[in-house]
Parts: sequence; C-alpha cells; structure tokens
Amino acid sequence: MKKKNDMVYPAGYKPTDEDKKAIETRQSILNVILGDHSKEISEDLDTDLFEVMKRRRSTRKFDTKPIEDWKIKKILAAADTAPTAGNFQGFEIFHVKNSDMKEKLVGAANNQPYVNAPLVLVYCKNPSRVKLQFPKTTLKKFAIQDATLAAAYSQLAATALSLSTIWIGMIDEKKVSEIIGTDLVPSSILCIGYPIKRKYPKPRRNLSELIHVLE
Ligand SMILES: Cc1cc2nc3c(=O)[nH]c(=O)nc-3n(C[C@H](O)[C@H](O)[C@H](O)COP(=O)(O)O)c2cc1C
Repeated sequence: MKKKNDMVYPAGYKPTDEDKKAIETRQSILNVILGDHSKEISEDLDTDLFEVMKRRRSTRKFDTKPIEDWKIKKILAAADTAPTAGNFQGFEIFHVKNSDMKEKLVGAANNQPYVNAPLVLVYCKNPSRVKLQFPKTTLKKFAIQDATLAAAYSQLAATALSLSTIWIGMIDEKKVSEIIGTDLVPSSILCIGYPIKRKYPKPRRNLSELIHVLE
C-alpha cells in the first residue's frame, strides 16, 4: 500500500538507493533555502506572487550595496524550481563574481554599462543534458526554453526580495562564452542589484488585444 509521502517516479524509472538519497538531499536543500521565510519577515518583504508581478520593473541603475548571500541563494534556488523539458534541466547558470569578467561582459553586451551589476548571472543552454529521443534542433529549442524559464524564475525571485533586475538579451554569444570560459551557448544575462530609484511598472497593451480567444 502507498504511504502518503511516497515519491512518485515517472513510469519505467526505478531509482537506485543512491538516486533516492540524491533526490531527497536536493529536495531538502531546496526546501531549506526556499522555505525559510524568517529573513523575509524580518525585512518586511511582500512576497505574494501577484504583488511581485505587479511591481516588477526593469532597472538599469544599481546601488553599489552588495546583495546578501541568503538572497542570492534564493534567486539561484528559484531557478532550480523552474520546469524543464522532460525534467532534464537543459541549462546551467554561471554566477560571475570576478570583476574583470563582469567588465568584459559589458563589452560582450553591446557596451551596456549596467551589465556590470552587483549580481551577474549568465544562463546558458545545455542541450546535451536533454536525454530525449528527438532531433538535435528540438533539443536545442528545449534548452533555450529551459534556460529562459530559469532566468525568469530568478527574476521574479529577485523582485520578491526587493531587488531590481535587467534582463540582457543583446549579447554576443561567442564573446560571452569565451569570457566565462564555457563551450555552452548563453541565452541571457540577468543583472541584479538594489535600485537607486524605484520606478512604476511600465504600461502594457490591453489584455483584450493580447489575448486571442478561439472558440
Ligand atoms: C528577451 C529580452 C531581451 C532583453 N534585452 C535587453 C537588453 O539587452 N538590454 C536592456 O537594457 N534591456 C533588455 N531587456 C529588458 C526590456 O527592455 C524590458 O523588459 C522591457 O522594456 C519591459 O520593461 P519592464 O521589464 O520594466 O516591464 C530585454 C528583455 C527581454 C525579455
């Protein structure tokens, strides 16, 4: 008989004891990082998802104030909760701490100076992780979606933590790969910091123009 907390695995997949331990460890690390709200409460943050979505606004001017480690951990853990194709996690994150690299990334991003931000995360596609029986082009498409979603989850997490972000898509992929020392292709850079000024969110088109209802 199934116990309430028994794990459910995909059909045909029988985890070894080692797998089970790894899965439990991963879950407990994520649970600890994401489940600890004590610091958020002490900072009086509004982390309600819809409030976070409502107030998110791109920022290109960051304060030099460094970001607390506990916030960085949550931003990274949030990326790890994003859905991925087949759950193969076809992406990698490069946390760029090195200041020379950060400065070089500015050049690889069409000289956008704000790329040199307090927290710089480069999201790369890793299609080789996606062990699905599909053509390479499909696996590449999955990997870009995996990397993009992960960055979006981090972006919302950063907003929830009272930080601001700028998503950088205007990059020379080859240069970025060279700078961070990888063969993987980057999909975006997420630059994060405390904003100098908090701005109102930008307007959007009407929902009625956005949504195409097909009946
Ligand atoms: C795919 C994508 C690429 C982007 N690339 C850049 C970029 O290279 N430089 C930049 O300053 N902003 C970039 N942005 C940020 C957008 O300009 C910004 O999200 C948009 O103006 C809407 O503003 P909001 O984020 O405040 O709602 C990018 C955003 C996305 C989603």
